[in-house]
Amino acid sequence: MEIIIKNNYSEISIEASGIVANQIKSKPNTVLGLATGSTPLGLYKELIRLHINEGLDFSKVISFNLDEYIGLSKDHPQSYNYFMYHNFFKKVNIPANNIHIPNGISVKQLEYCEQYESLIKNSGGIDLQILGIGRDGHIAFNEPSSSLSSRTRIKTLTQKTIKDNSRFFKNISDVPRFAITMGVGTIMEAKKIILLASGSSKAEPIAQSVEGPITSMHSASAIQLHPNTTIVVDRQASKELKEKKYYNWVYKNKNVIYNQSYN
Ligand code: F6R
Repeated sequence: MEIIIKNNYSEISIEASGIVANQIKSKPNTVLGLATGSTPLGLYKELIRLHINEGLDFSKVISFNLDEYIGLSKDHPQSYNYFMYHNFFKKVNIPANNIHIPNGISVKQLEYCEQYESLIKNSGGIDLQILGIGRDGHIAFNEPSSSLSSRTRIKTLTQKTIKDNSRFFKNISDVPRFAITMGVGTIMEAKKIILLASGSSKAEPIAQSVEGPITSMHSASAIQLHPNTTIVVDRQASKELKEKKYYNWVYKNKNVIYNQSYN
């Protein structure tokens, strides 16, 4: 795992946007796995800026979102579909046919989850997966006790997640209790993962996931088994990492080793 510690939210957004932009430039038909929530908003803003000012081209990009609330229609302002179009898709040139977001009101949910998995597979698999992390250590909506080999399915949200996400709803009772989510196993098949975290409320889950045991009680800890993960956190989210100094040292030396090896 590569752990990059930046000073603040703006810096993590810029760092992550550089990784995404390089990926798209080197493979224009990149398959992106996308997250919602507050954390990737700065990254999406930066990617929009790169699209407008520097011509970053999304015309061949294919996307798969991690999750969606069950029971919210696509145009519901709190649905993840609405979030993605409003904050990102409407502002870049990704074709509508290339966008995949789980359908929270599908009738045959089990079949739908299997189809979503097949769509990912048939597109060649996810090249780059963007993740946030929940306060309970979840990635996507893989709440504590989620199997680390789980696939796309319906999950019941924890009270903690419902409370955290109630900031987007009028009343806490309006927050859906269920979500359709890619599984940990689905996410682990992505060729590269970037996990972003900002703020002190993410310090404990980040420390648990990076330096704690691999456990279904913190589904993000599964990334320790992934061969190509970059974790980009700000100073506050890094504050419980024991080996912070070493991670900074590795980052500082990153270019040195590349220059020595290849020049
Ligand atoms: C959203 C998702 C969730 C969020 C997590 C953090 O698609 O998959 O796992 O990444 O709940 O949310 P924020 O960024 O709002 O703190």
